[in-house]
Amino acid sequence: MSTPTEIGVGLVSVGWMGKVHSRAYQSVPVVYPELGIKPRLVIAADTAQSRADYARDVLGYAESTLDYHEVLNHPDVDVVSICAPNFLHAEIGIAAAQAGKAFWIEKPVGRGVDETLAVEAAANAAGVVSSIGFNYRHAPAIEKAKQLVSSGALGRITNIRGTFFADYSAEPNGALSWRFTRALAGSGVLGDLMGHLADLVHYVVGPIAEVSGMTSTIHTHRPIQQMGTGTHFDVIEGGELGPVENEDYVAMMVRFRNDAEGAGAIGTLEASRVAVGPRAAYNIEIYGTEGSLKWDFERMNELEVAIGRTGDLQGYQRVMAAPGFGDFAHFQPGAGTSMGFDDLKVIEARKFLESVVGVRHVNSNIHDAVAAARVVDAAERSAESGQWIRLEPTAGVTAAIR
Ligand SMILES: NC(=O)c1ccc[n+]([C@@H]2O[C@H](COP(=O)([O-])OP(=O)(O)OC[C@H]3O[C@@H](n4cnc5c(N)ncnc54)[C@H](O)[C@@H]3O)[C@@H](O)[C@H]2O)c1
Repeated sequence: MSTPTEIGVGLVSVGWMGKVHSRAYQSVPVVYPELGIKPRLVIAADTAQSRADYARDVLGYAESTLDYHEVLNHPDVDVVSICAPNFLHAEIGIAAAQAGKAFWIEKPVGRGVDETLAVEAAANAAGVVSSIGFNYRHAPAIEKAKQLVSSGALGRITNIRGTFFADYSAEPNGALSWRFTRALAGSGVLGDLMGHLADLVHYVVGPIAEVSGMTSTIHTHRPIQQMGTGTHFDVIEGGELGPVENEDYVAMMVRFRNDAEGAGAIGTLEASRVAVGPRAAYNIEIYGTEGSLKWDFERMNELEVAIGRTGDLQGYQRVMAAPGFGDFAHFQPGAGTSMGFDDLKVIEARKFLESVVGVRHVNSNIHDAVAAARVVDAAERSAESGQWIRLEPTAGVTAAIR
């Protein structure tokens, strides 16, 4: 075996995603030994001392700091994971690009389309690789769904339905984390879950052209949670209340760009962070003239497929993800042994690092983030004005523009 290519990793923010990114980097040489890529955890930053210490003492970073600038300026850092709350994304993304570092940034990139565009401009100017935390793209069943759609197995796609329903804040005393504050998060469930859904639909079906949206906030006050403590799933009894400044629920109607026959698909997309019942029911259904498919993240390793309008076996069949579906074979030797959420991040790390070493550019990038941000922004503006909003085409997207 030739000497592996070492890549120095810097991490900004050691919350849930910071931990998941770190484990993903560590898994890449194990899951993909053939790539010859060896990430080295160099330095991690978090303003919470306990989390900076955890990065060094437990996750295995050689150094830790309270100041993210030390990560960006570190000479041994080649790539940076940006896992900070949304309000820091533009500032850190731009600074990372200006420091010449490739970056893997969590979604949504910033607090709205303007901040996403600013990061895009900085990445373009510096010519650095960017990668976005749109992890649901990588589910092997989704890769199979994309293949079925693009091969024409479902015929002409006529309509879709997507519902990203979570219960992480269904409890009225669920913590008022940074996610509920405009200055720290931007939009609410729109940026948090609808951005994921918009990207997934772009990836599998194609670009959204027009949007009509409605939003609502169900729980208007919640107990305040301090930054850098706990998780957004926490329930706080008897704490001081603060206002929820963004939406809990969004419903949208969408039109896709016209296909070759001039008949673009239409559909509905919804997202909720306060649903009672669904835990993380991230669902898409795609209907075509010759067949249909359904996927739900709660059953990530399954795909329901119906192909054909005749014969004795019409209707949905359930198939399990298997070797041959996306990256499944890298994780498990046979169908039925399930992959999980963190595995999607390992695939994302693989795609990012492969792009960094220049093997091929396969990761979602900052242009995909702009495409998703435009959908989110249009839904928000439509909800305010009551009007349909047309979207500008976004150039250079890895999947949305075919
Ligand atoms: N891709 C996904 O499925 C997914 C899932 C969860 C979160 N996210 C995204 O990841 C990002 C982080 O979310 P999270 O759930 O990990 O948040 P978190 O609240 O668990 O962690 C955020 C961390 O940022 C730290 N921080 C705050 N200010 C800082 C600063 N100035 N410098 C360095 N660190 C600072 C906090 O102390 C905290 O440890 C968000 O943008 C979120 O939308 C993506």
